[in-house]
Amino acid sequence: MSLRNSKKAYGSVAKFFHWSIFILMLGMMAFGYLMGNIPDNYRGIAYNTHKLIGLLILSLMVLRAWWALINTKPQSAHVTFLGRFSERSVHLFLYAFIIAMPLAGWIGSSAAGRAPHLGEMILSLPIEKNKALVEQAFNVHANLALIIIFLVNLHILAVLYHFFIKKERTLRRMMPNG
Ligand code: HEM
Repeated sequence: MSLRNSKKAYGSVAKFFHWSIFILMLGMMAFGYLMGNIPDNYRGIAYNTHKLIGLLILSLMVLRAWWALINTKPQSAHVTFLGRFSERSVHLFLYAFIIAMPLAGWIGSSAAGRAPHLGEMILSLPIEKNKALVEQAFNVHANLALIIIFLVNLHILAVLYHFFIKKERTLRRMMPNG
């Protein structure tokens, strides 16, 4: 399997980004919705862990976007313009929102003066404390969670339709041995 994409298939690097970010996002969504219920004495470390994994996802997404830009994109299975347009739109929105979501969390935490830390190193954006910005940023963070969950389900349904109903290779192209 080659590292780079071809007109026919995704390379191993694109597949690594796709599945590692999917698994991290799945964990982070569950973690995000449940961390409010964590007992007080563990909440601090839980929130910081959530924030650090969020920054890892942000870094992987920026690398993934760069790799997508310098690689060819395998040919779409769609024959109609509308099919290709909707497929590409969902892909583009997923890229944009999975970058915007950790960014919104980071802006909110930095503006709250509760930026993530790695040991002694504080990973804060250069933002002054700002209560209104904290509220706006976490509203965006919470709403993007719902939009991403909706788009990912739409994406999965489309892939399963093309694979099981239209008998196309779409799913196999993103599989490790595909
Ligand atoms: C893509 C990565 C991320 C995902 C999928 C994610 C997911 C979530 C979810 C589902 C919630 C619950 C939202 C709700 O209650 O409606 C949440 C809350 C939160 N997230 Fe994230 N998050 C990510 C990245 C980050 C980052 C990078 C930070 C900060 C540096 C962060 C800080 C927070 C905080 C502080 C809360 C609690 C907000 C509140 O109490 O209202 N998150 N996250």
